[in-house]
Amino acid sequence: MAASISPPDHPPSAGAPPNRVLVFDTTLRDGEQAPGCSMTRIQKLRMAQVLQDLGVDIIEAGFPAASDADADAVDAVARATRGVRICALARCQESDIVVAARALQGAAAARIHLFLATSPIHRQHKLRMERAQVLDTAVRAVVRARSLCEDVEFSAEDALRTEPEFLIEVFAAVIAAGARTINVPDTVGYTTPGEIAALFTRLRCEVPGIEKAVLSTHCHDDLGMGVANSLAALEAGARQVECTLNGIGERAGNAALEELVMALRTRADRFGLSTAIDTTRLYGASRTLSATIGLDVARNKAVVGDNAFAHEAGIHQHGVLANRETYEIMRAEDVGFPRTRLVLGRHSGRHALRERIGELGLCCADSDFETVFAAFKTMAERKREVLDADVEALVSGTPVHAGGPWSLAALHVGTYVGGASIASLHLRHSDGREARETATGSGPVHAVTAALVRASGQDLEILELRVRSIGTGAGAQGEAVIRGRHETQEFQGRAASTDIVEAAARAMLEVVNRIERMRLSPPSSLNRSGILSHDHESRSVSLA
Ligand code: KIV
Ligand code: ZN
Repeated sequence: MAASISPPDHPPSAGAPPNRVLVFDTTLRDGEQAPGCSMTRIQKLRMAQVLQDLGVDIIEAGFPAASDADADAVDAVARATRGVRICALARCQESDIVVAARALQGAAAARIHLFLATSPIHRQHKLRMERAQVLDTAVRAVVRARSLCEDVEFSAEDALRTEPEFLIEVFAAVIAAGARTINVPDTVGYTTPGEIAALFTRLRCEVPGIEKAVLSTHCHDDLGMGVANSLAALEAGARQVECTLNGIGERAGNAALEELVMALRTRADRFGLSTAIDTTRLYGASRTLSATIGLDVARNKAVVGDNAFAHEAGIHQHGVLANRETYEIMRAEDVGFPRTRLVLGRHSGRHALRERIGELGLCCADSDFETVFAAFKTMAERKREVLDADVEALVSGTPVHAGGPWSLAALHVGTYVGGASIASLHLRHSDGREARETATGSGPVHAVTAALVRASGQDLEILELRVRSIGTGAGAQGEAVIRGRHETQEFQGRAASTDIVEAAARAMLEVVNRIERMRLSPPSSLNRSGILSHDHESRSVSLA
């Protein structure tokens, strides 16, 4: 039998102003439950640290009764974190409650989260229980959990499809039994903002004792309304919001933490609510999760997607350059986004090109600009996105990838299904040197990058290698992005080609050349992405 957990150092909302929203993060439980999102104990520990630094109020670390590994992970997170409440999920049954309490023993502040389905469809087909049995089971479980842990949350699973009168009865009973947080999950993402707001308003008016508990919202995203529904519940009086980073979770996922937090912040004029989240850590937290579980963030994802602060249409670009607020309602730096990036493409105009030339530290005389702009337009008609290397090449009049000093004279790649890949290449340096190398790798991209690093003779660690498709159809290009570290500096290369192996080779060559160019002519400054930039007052970048 688990020993009783000492009372938490503060009740869930004690001292919190009425407009303070508690952020209950369930990335490590509801999020982790989703296919492709499972995490090992070590990964959960890393993410728990990220969530703690982000400033969430409660971390739901797992469902200890689900497996020994889950119980272990909750135990590890409970011991490793401080200054944040750690929560474990349990069904309304003795064994689950005891296992959850045991896993939480090392936590400075703990919570047991009980759940039981209340909707007719779940009562009939899953639980095979009458209303009275559900009520009794819930109350007994809360009493038992309270005997082991001071802080108990009760969730009425599928609440949004439950008869409101029954929900009111259950909530009144579990509050009387000692539940301090009452969670109202939209388990199947079925509700709408108007409907959930009406339910929360009704619960606040009609549940006896509701003032003793914190009302919580937990919305799934099956109809794409998870965040909107959560915000509606908050407007109607919820003061805890359950969510996940990047919106991962069962099926279409849970309400996304970063979207909720930025909506509350950006529209403080409307909501008048705040959280304790350090928003400048949102982008990093999102990317850490994405790297941990290997699930990419969609490019157009709100707040943290690659395009969230990118503008392509010429008229938008012009507006943003004149005054950021014309087309941006949040500042990239407020979510920790590396920087506002204008995507250069066929809709881009002169302003955007001039700005990028400046950002890259290139020097382009006014008299040359029209020629460069005309060449840019021609290139933009052919390519979906004009990359930084393309702009450098346009300004210097050098064809892209001939940026040198190293150039690729030959490349041969062989792949053996079920075996290693092998890449042989021949590099030529503008000073007359030649380098030939062969390397094997677990795949063709690996083999090519290994051969290039060796041939360059550089001390280079690859930090990131991303390959993705840009465009659609059989002629779609593959884009490779490689980030590497040389000594203390980071360098990035990007390239696109219909041959993904060639794209990886070109991107790697760009990294190698950026390092080589820096070695030959040390820069006056490095921009935030670590890409070589020069003081454009003084000189143009030499690409050759
Ligand atoms: O969606 C849901 O109903 C849940 C409960 C366990 C809270 O995740
Ligand atoms: Zn859920």
